[in-house]
Amino acid sequence: MKRAPRANPYRDRWAGDLRADAVGATVTVAGWVHRRRDHGGLIFLDLRDRSGLLQLVIHPQPGDETFAAAEALRPEHVVSVTGEVVAREAGNVNSDLSTGEIEIAVRELRTLAEAQTPPFPVDEDRPLDEMTRLRHRAIDLRRETMRTALELRHEVVATIRGHLGEHDFLEIETPILTRSTPEGARDFLVPNRREPGTWYALPQSPQLFKQLLMIGGYERYFQIARCFRDEDMRADRQAEFTQLDVELAFVEEDDVLELVEGLMARVFEVGGFDVPPPPWDRVTYAQALARYGSDRPDRRFGLELRDVSDALRGSQFKVFQSVLDSGGAVVVLNAGRVELSRSELDGLNEVVQRHGGKAVAWAFVESGPPTPSWRSPIAKFFTPQQIAAAGGEPGDLLLFAADDRQVALEALGGLRVELAQRLGLERSGHDVLWVVDFPMFGWNAGEERWDPLHHPFTAPTGSLDDPGSLGSRNYDLVADGVELGGGSIRIHEAEVQQKVLDLIGIDADDAQRRFGFLLDALRHGAPPHGGIALGIDRIVAMLAGRDSIRDVIAFPKTASGADPLTGAPAAVDERQVRELGLRPL
Ligand code: AMO
Ligand code: AMP
Repeated sequence: MKRAPRANPYRDRWAGDLRADAVGATVTVAGWVHRRRDHGGLIFLDLRDRSGLLQLVIHPQPGDETFAAAEALRPEHVVSVTGEVVAREAGNVNSDLSTGEIEIAVRELRTLAEAQTPPFPVDEDRPLDEMTRLRHRAIDLRRETMRTALELRHEVVATIRGHLGEHDFLEIETPILTRSTPEGARDFLVPNRREPGTWYALPQSPQLFKQLLMIGGYERYFQIARCFRDEDMRADRQAEFTQLDVELAFVEEDDVLELVEGLMARVFEVGGFDVPPPPWDRVTYAQALARYGSDRPDRRFGLELRDVSDALRGSQFKVFQSVLDSGGAVVVLNAGRVELSRSELDGLNEVVQRHGGKAVAWAFVESGPPTPSWRSPIAKFFTPQQIAAAGGEPGDLLLFAADDRQVALEALGGLRVELAQRLGLERSGHDVLWVVDFPMFGWNAGEERWDPLHHPFTAPTGSLDDPGSLGSRNYDLVADGVELGGGSIRIHEAEVQQKVLDLIGIDADDAQRRFGFLLDALRHGAPPHGGIALGIDRIVAMLAGRDSIRDVIAFPKTASGADPLTGAPAAVDERQVRELGLRPL
């Protein structure tokens, strides 16, 4: 820690900051007993405070209260000690510890609080059951893995604030009790006691408020914003999460992307995360989908996809031919030289099904002569020319999916990532890119309507008369296969906004009722504007090398939305429920 604490009866130094230059000084330090070892009459304690660990030695002296007190100490007791900083003998130096050259010869020891036996050891870094960790989060937070993660999180946010402050951004807060913002998830609703039957919604993002701030003339806004989305939680998804939310006026795509590149290059550096220097590649959505089957491709390994519809058209394999006849595609993933057993190959069906596909067909390429052949249950349906055109080197495993083109690509895209993991393919270094040129809408076959791929405030490109062909001025920042952020240039004309809402089934009356405040503001001189939101939890988890964002959030929720610590969500008094104009269950 950079600054010495203000001296008080508990401490005058941070324990972890003491070094050999303090030898001879008398210091007072405070913290928790991390570990205790008894050695031939000597007691060694590792004291832990936020700055780190420091070894304390207590020498036995007959009738000495300090020694008696030290003997009673157990892990996690809270103490304050005063003593002299002494150099350790050469043989006792601990090079794993930044305070390893010294120790404190304790003269005075005060036990400030005793601790029950902790539910799990704080001084070990072994895997623990997550429910137990979350239930006893205060204890879990003492563990070094949590402390380093939250320290990094603070550094990241401080870097963001510093960088954006230097670039004339204002940090402005927006409401938590508000109206629904359509980011595509379900809202959390809060009943209004004053007018039963009316509800606040928690913001899925500050999207509309930041646009209003642009119309309000603030030009450069940011916020470390809490967002709420009632959706299924996963390793990279919480119902309550934090965005860096940014918006700028009088800008185009290049302005936003360059700003974010400058900012994120600094953030990556703070995290010791070695990425290529900006500018970062811009890959179109169409390219990303065609090659990687994903709009957040991890390009650090091969296993690229290829559309082999034309090569395989006219085969005797009915499954493929009927898909091709109905306008679908056959896509192949070349898994390279891998040997999978029959049951492993069958198991791949389940993987593509999880990613929206129906099944995979497989073929091992074998060498000629004169042309390559296939070892595959479907080899007999294809001509030698078709087999040659499907590609691959002898030994390669080809995996085919036949489906609607997008479905086939995404299913194999999912399989690609899981295969890379399963095969332990090397993914060295880090890959950062922008995905750009998204379509504006995707057809929602279930609901029979167009859904925006980003959100309906994104500026479209092309003719509004042909929704399916509309592009959008949307961009996503992707690192190592994770979507870290997304944003867009916005619609700044009320008529265009109205038209886009109309296309997604929100007619003029409905639009006025739900978004009238935005449409009105847009009619009062809205500057061209755009911005982005970056997922703070995902960024920190990536920098810290954690698999789950729960490990970089102080008080996260489980996959089912529960907080095992506080027991939320919980029942409340019937009276409280009635006051809200609701009927208790
Ligand atoms: P979007 O919905 O793409 O855009 O969100 C931006 C970024 O927020 C993070 N994120 C999440 N992180 C954890 N848990 C979640 N449930 C979750 N959902 C999203 C991701 C994502 O890339 N208003 C727009 C931004 C804009 O247009 O400026 C928005 O919220 O890292
Ligand atoms: P079937 O005719 O259903 O017995 O399928 C024959 C082979 O084709 C099996 O290996 C299936 O896994 C595979 N298969 C079936 N449907 C598809 C599909 N849509 N795409 C790729 N392979 C498929």
